[in-house]
Amino acid sequence: MKKNIVILGTQWGDEGKGKIVDSLTQDSAYVVRYQGGHNAGHTLVVNGEKIILHLIPSGILHDNVIGIIANGVVVSPLELMKEIKMLEKRSISINNRLILSHASPLILQYHIDMDVAREKKLGINALGTTGRGIGPAYEDKVARRALRLSDLKDEKKLAIRLEKIVDYYNHQLVSFYHQKSIDYKIILRDLLPTIDFLYDMIQDTTAILHQAIADKKKIVFEGAQGSFLDIDHGTYPYVTSSNSTIGGVITGTGVGPKNLDYILGVTKAYSTRVGYGPFPSELFNNIDKHLSHKGNEFGSTTGRKRRTGWLDTVSLCRAVKINSLSALCITKLDVLDGLDEIKICISYKNNHTSEIIKYPSIDDWENITPIYEIHPGWKKKTLGIKKLEDLPYAARNYISRIEEITQIPIDLISTGPDRFDIIFINSYN
Ligand code: IMP
Repeated sequence: MKKNIVILGTQWGDEGKGKIVDSLTQDSAYVVRYQGGHNAGHTLVVNGEKIILHLIPSGILHDNVIGIIANGVVVSPLELMKEIKMLEKRSISINNRLILSHASPLILQYHIDMDVAREKKLGINALGTTGRGIGPAYEDKVARRALRLSDLKDEKKLAIRLEKIVDYYNHQLVSFYHQKSIDYKIILRDLLPTIDFLYDMIQDTTAILHQAIADKKKIVFEGAQGSFLDIDHGTYPYVTSSNSTIGGVITGTGVGPKNLDYILGVTKAYSTRVGYGPFPSELFNNIDKHLSHKGNEFGSTTGRKRRTGWLDTVSLCRAVKINSLSALCITKLDVLDGLDEIKICISYKNNHTSEIIKYPSIDDWENITPIYEIHPGWKKKTLGIKKLEDLPYAARNYISRIEEITQIPIDLISTGPDRFDIIFINSYN
């Protein structure tokens, strides 16, 4: 049995990590979110019912598992309370099963207003953020002025600090962005009910995780977004504001690399991206229509149509290295069912020099033409297949070719939205 597992995205998010986390946490003690915030949207289908989680880790659906929102996550107390209530309405109790880091920075209304105002001002140069205040909240953390979850524990001090911060934000919102000012008393009023609600959950999650490691309990670390949305390793500035690659686990939890036993990269059988920015293998034709319709490629947080493309192994190989991946999990293979042919991007051609580049700088991704290998498609349905040998020959070849190019094993294949639509390959275990 694998011990501590990291599950992270190798593309631009929306790889289907939530379902994989749900599948692999069944026998774990803890499931931990370590970066991002409620910009994430993890869709799970259990008994035919769809549940979308934004902040609470996906493994929480197993009632033996404790969820942790660690210090690297930016937390909107209002959204968190809403999400807990949504789960409770569906009879999923998180009573004593959710722990929040005292050190998580808060997302409050001024972060959201700032995010939206900035995007508006950028106009055609906007980044296409989710508008959830993620960037401004991380800025506050780095600028050392953030309010953190621990600050909810002292209402008097909270009010004093909030007034000062709101003053700082109002200056920018009104003078620079010509937006309405914010009243800190309203933010405080809205925040107060969350304090009682969340108070007992706020703890030192790093210490809890260290104890879990000492007790040899299994931990699953759940990534949000994907490797090329990483603030350092992504397609900057079209990125999110956290480290969605492996480093985020370490800084975002206080657990060191020695305690990470298996790093699983989740990769969609094709590619998608929401928001703007370079996307080397992007498609604009009927295949785009097929992928977005069959794959239901619409953002689970914002509802936006996702851009689609063929699988890009140039960027995938980069993600394998950045994250020290142990293995890959291929998701949404069934979405490729019925296509006549399937392409894999294997290298890029520089548009200026016509040179074929195997290891292009990420800054060149906008000035390249993808080079493809063409593989036959398969007409048989793969939806719901649970054994490798039941996959059509062409689908197995497609999987083998990805392994050959990336040089790491594919340990899992997801063949549908349900938690049981999954192939566990022998190398997993
Ligand atoms: P932000 O994280 O809201 O600041 O948005 C920055 C970029 O990351 C935008 O292109 C978003 O569409 C993208 N993004 C953020 N979260 C997700 C996610 O969970 N899935 C896919 N894209 C995301």
